[in-house]
Amino acid sequence: MLKDINVLLGVTGGIAAYKACDIVSGLKRINANVDVIMTKSATELVSPNTFQALSRNAVIIDIFDTPRYWNIEHISLAQKSHVLLVAPATANIIGKVANGIADDMLSTTIMASTAKVVFAPAMNTKMYENKIVQQNIEKLISLGYQFIEPASGRLACGDIGIGKLADINEIIRFIVNIVKSDGDLKGKKILVTAGPTREAIDPVRFISNYSTGKMGYSIAKAASTRGAEVILISGPTALHAPPGVKLIKINTALEMYDAVMDNFKEQNIIIKSAAVSDYRLKVISEHKIKKDEGNLNLSLVRNPDILYELGKIKEDRMLIGFAAESDNVVKNAKDKILGKNLDFIVANDITEEGAGFGTDTNIVTIVDMDGNIERIEKTSKIDIAHRILDKAKQMLEVRS
Ligand SMILES: Cc1cc2nc3c(=O)[nH]c(=O)nc-3n(C[C@H](O)[C@H](O)[C@H](O)COP(=O)(O)O)c2cc1C
Repeated sequence: MLKDINVLLGVTGGIAAYKACDIVSGLKRINANVDVIMTKSATELVSPNTFQALSRNAVIIDIFDTPRYWNIEHISLAQKSHVLLVAPATANIIGKVANGIADDMLSTTIMASTAKVVFAPAMNTKMYENKIVQQNIEKLISLGYQFIEPASGRLACGDIGIGKLADINEIIRFIVNIVKSDGDLKGKKILVTAGPTREAIDPVRFISNYSTGKMGYSIAKAASTRGAEVILISGPTALHAPPGVKLIKINTALEMYDAVMDNFKEQNIIIKSAAVSDYRLKVISEHKIKKDEGNLNLSLVRNPDILYELGKIKEDRMLIGFAAESDNVVKNAKDKILGKNLDFIVANDITEEGAGFGTDTNIVTIVDMDGNIERIEKTSKIDIAHRILDKAKQMLEVRS
């Protein structure tokens, strides 16, 4: 599947280094060529011979080793790779790259590479949550480096928390997505909405929902890394806009409506993953509402149904909706496609564990206008984002 693709795997000195052996095997199984650079610390944990045997390539460790070819090895490796994956990535390598340090073969090769660089960090929870590590990660993300978030669970040190190397299959899927979709959405304009809306009750209170925006931000990120020009219209979230994406921040459903209507005309694809409030207060109190002995009744009025309004004027633009359902997922999705003139809908059953608001994973069923149904079992939101974009691309190709 990845024939003629060169993956450069950097293995650093984390306890999860042994798991990188499975990454090499997985990538070889799908026909990628894998070169491995190990840091000196990594060689203390796993023998280079293991990686040599699995990758069927010589493992590179020391920058001053006699080169295998006439050329300068870190430059030639950097140039030949399509993707550079660092897994596991220690706090140390993340810190070095974030601060421009190139003092060994791996950090020097990363510095010399113009390929996509992906880090899969793995470390003790306290290390991972350390502000310095987090700032380094944020800096690298803002510069276009990609990260596969570690998982939570019992760590080698006995602590329980975030820091485990992400699932090997997830890492391999991430790399496959990057390689197979490199630039395939170039020239496409995509509008994504994400997050919740807030409907003010008074100056200090609002009505909202549990949406964190993770799904929409993942779509924006995936679309942007595939070369699309992306506008992300987002309600309040704790997330950072992916690099290269134009972010428009809104608070209320009416602001979301205006922002979407101002921008939809130029788009090829519109993906509405935001959890927009159906209702807003009829009257927003100018002053903080004081508590009283009795009950408080709030009068709510309907917000515009943005998806429905877009469906009426979309012409040949592709319109994709999201649905968070707790029952009759497929039937409700089919009704929505018809009622709102959608091309397809991504429905998630929010009662399933690992799906819906706030999680890093999702389980979705894609239902399209022709009645095709595709269920995507529990996987990362970034993987689901790629699958949604694959489907949109495929439907656009059939039409053109
Ligand atoms: C047994 C052992 C396990 C370690 N595991 C980790 C780890 O999981 N993550 C991490 O960031 N550092 C870990 N360290 C610390 C790193 O090995 C250390 O920071 C080293 O300098 C990393 O070098 P490198 O980034 O060049 O591989 C571990 C150290 C030892 C001795």
